[in-house]
Amino acid sequence: MTVTQARSVNALRQELTALKALDQEQARTMPPSFYTSEDFLELEKEHIFRKEWICLGHVGEIPNPGDFYTTELVGEQLLISHGHDGEIYVLSNVCRHRGNLVEAQASGNRRSFVCQYHAWTYNTDGQLKTAPLMKKKTKFDVKGCKLPQLKTEIWNNFIFVNLDGMAAPLAEQLGGLQSILQNYHHEQRNLLFKDEAVWHTNWKNLTENFMEGYHLFATHPTTLQPMTPTQLCRKVPGEERWTAYRSYYDPDYPPRGPFHEDMTEDERNNSVLFNVFPSFVVAVAANYTLYLCLRPTDSDKVSIRWGICGLKTDPTDPEVVAYIDLCKSFNAEDKDKLETLQKAQNTRYYQTGPLAPDDLEGTIWDFLSYMGKRLGADLELSD
Ligand code: FES
Ligand SMILES: [Fe+2]
Repeated sequence: MTVTQARSVNALRQELTALKALDQEQARTMPPSFYTSEDFLELEKEHIFRKEWICLGHVGEIPNPGDFYTTELVGEQLLISHGHDGEIYVLSNVCRHRGNLVEAQASGNRRSFVCQYHAWTYNTDGQLKTAPLMKKKTKFDVKGCKLPQLKTEIWNNFIFVNLDGMAAPLAEQLGGLQSILQNYHHEQRNLLFKDEAVWHTNWKNLTENFMEGYHLFATHPTTLQPMTPTQLCRKVPGEERWTAYRSYYDPDYPPRGPFHEDMTEDERNNSVLFNVFPSFVVAVAANYTLYLCLRPTDSDKVSIRWGICGLKTDPTDPEVVAYIDLCKSFNAEDKDKLETLQKAQNTRYYQTGPLAPDDLEGTIWDFLSYMGKRLGADLELSD
């Protein structure tokens, strides 16, 4: 990193530290380089995405033994495998021979994984099974050769990985959030739709956008605002690892079933939107769950693996199809706004701006506080 680059990263770290010292009434945004700096993204990759629990998708993507999908997280090639022993594994998708990709397909079902380069063959838990023509190498130990199994936790049927293996168990950090969600019984909601996308915007722009209800009336006047008006958003007190708000339904809007019988009257009338920091954003509506797993690719590009779950089981049910279409419509509205936002963030004239009241943008304030804790003055850098 050049001296100038280090200076701009340090300036952003100082700004995050300064924000932490402000009270809620003074809450403000970060400078635009927070969303455009490649150097700052490197810091985020190293000190956030390699150290935290990051959601990679939903167990419904791999319902049967042998099912798998591949993905990438901050340069690491990952193979998510439903093992023939019934366990879910997140494996390094890099062959123990000369380091090619073991599995080149995006998804499928395998008896075992065969690297296409020299046909080394691995069990679905990553253990090497056979390596052709290697018998003459007397010291070669097949048993000792395994694809690294990365630290994995399943929370509410979502698959999380922790790349450096040092994070504390996830569920115990999300106790407060779990108590908000328990009556919705998300674990009983089936995966009805999944897709992937890349948007030309910084990952934090999309994270923040998903988590604030202020933009609903202006960005989604015909899609979301009639159902969940901006004026009815209510912030929920967050904790260190998450933030949330409730988006109440317009009383004139028809009820949104089917509901789980444990849900209270209040819960039937709002959606809980939460972010498990840094970038797993979810809207648990009374009847469906919409989730987005976000990963940065470049400073101006975010990879999105998203899906919809519900108590219904048939993805062709007209009500399910209508909900999927609604999500696609408001996602397109957000994409449009976030891609122009990214362009505008290349300016030298915008500095910072005030955040809206707590019910509307308090979740952004929580997110910036989290970023400040992770990357501000408390983070000791070795060089
Ligand atoms: S690199 Fe995989 S078998 Fe050689
Ligand atoms: Fe939106």
